[in-house]
Amino acid sequence: QIATVDAWQIFDSRGNPTVEAEVTLHNGVRGRGLVPSGASTGQFEALELRDGDAQRYRGKSVFKAIANIRDVIGPAVRGMDVSEQRAIDERMIELDGTAEKSRLGANAILGVSMAVANAAANARQVPLYASLGDGTRLPLPMIQIIGGGSHAAWRTDVQDYLVMAIGATSYEQTLEMTFNVYHAAGELLKERGVLAGVADEGGFWPEFATNAEALDTLVEVIQRAGYRPGEDLGIALDIAASDLFDEQAGCYRFRLEDRQFSCEAFADLMIDWCERYPIVSIEDPAADVDEAGWRRVCERVGEHVQVIGDDLFTTNRQRIERGIEQKLANSVLIKLNQIGTVTETIDAIRLTQQAGWRPVVSARSGETEDAFISHLAVATDAGQLKVGSFARSERMAKWNEVLRIARELGERKTFASGGLLGFQPT
Ligand code: PGA
Ligand code: ZN
Repeated sequence: QIATVDAWQIFDSRGNPTVEAEVTLHNGVRGRGLVPSGASTGQFEALELRDGDAQRYRGKSVFKAIANIRDVIGPAVRGMDVSEQRAIDERMIELDGTAEKSRLGANAILGVSMAVANAAANARQVPLYASLGDGTRLPLPMIQIIGGGSHAAWRTDVQDYLVMAIGATSYEQTLEMTFNVYHAAGELLKERGVLAGVADEGGFWPEFATNAEALDTLVEVIQRAGYRPGEDLGIALDIAASDLFDEQAGCYRFRLEDRQFSCEAFADLMIDWCERYPIVSIEDPAADVDEAGWRRVCERVGEHVQVIGDDLFTTNRQRIERGIEQKLANSVLIKLNQIGTVTETIDAIRLTQQAGWRPVVSARSGETEDAFISHLAVATDAGQLKVGSFARSERMAKWNEVLRIARELGERKTFASGGLLGFQPT
């Protein structure tokens, strides 16, 4: 039974304030929840409550969300059975009463929801993954090599250039292959004098003249690391196209190349990239409001390329259901704080799986040292995990946690290889 709920302000990987919540049970067992934060947030996401007081933390402090945990959520969930995650999450949803969780704040609700999940696992004396579900499948990682978009001051228009080790036969091997590619990329960019640092998620921050140059470079570094592009390692992109779309003008814009595209022309560029490069996965190739663009891309490349909706679906059941009906994509990015409770997140994963689509469990660009999502990915047999790059501890904490889970699972572990997930060599 829940005895007390407390919360305080901590800082995420960008140094911005965020919420940490703690649930304590009558028997003294505790669990914590650390809330991440996005930069390229979708307009349909649950609301992240920030104080907006320019005098404090540039308006970014989260003291109201913390007060809501202490004064509103705490008293309401006190005495509830910590193993009843769904009932507790529903109680908080009811208490908030808004569709976007804007009264209490999704960051307040999610902090408590994650703390409850951790406290329940601790009370059962089992690891979080075993408490959240009965999955045993280690995920195939999607790892960023080059960062851009809103995570790198728009140095490239495309947000993430990533790789997936679709030819690997074990989780450990995916990390070894990615390690080799990551360091080959650093070397190559340095040699060419285009390395400007690292972006928010640890990928390299390059000085390219065009977005296609980044794609050419990625192919080159996969080869330089000794692998076959499209066979050993495939390219994955997160276009984050909602950030490139001008809703008023109804067109897409590349700042780097000073180019403008109609909706059709932009979809055709995405299709062209998928056909010309060894791309196995593309995320947000169209803006969340451009359903025709989604349909166009999915119809043309959906057979052999994973088409992931992030800002399109925002881990929201109704939005995913509509996407399935309308065949807008074939995969869903799963982020806890887009929807705001553990229960709704797991429901979104199940819905995606039941449709025969692939869920990709994802971190945010603003992360914490917590590795909840590693456990979530294994517990639900989600099959894929996207955490940013292969550097910086808030990223490595997640990759490392999967290594620990693998050790613990021992003989019982399975691995979501590219073949098992249905990725074809390109
Ligand atoms: P965000 O980026 O956390 O800034 O939204 C991650 C993504 O778009 O997948
Ligand atoms: Zn995204």
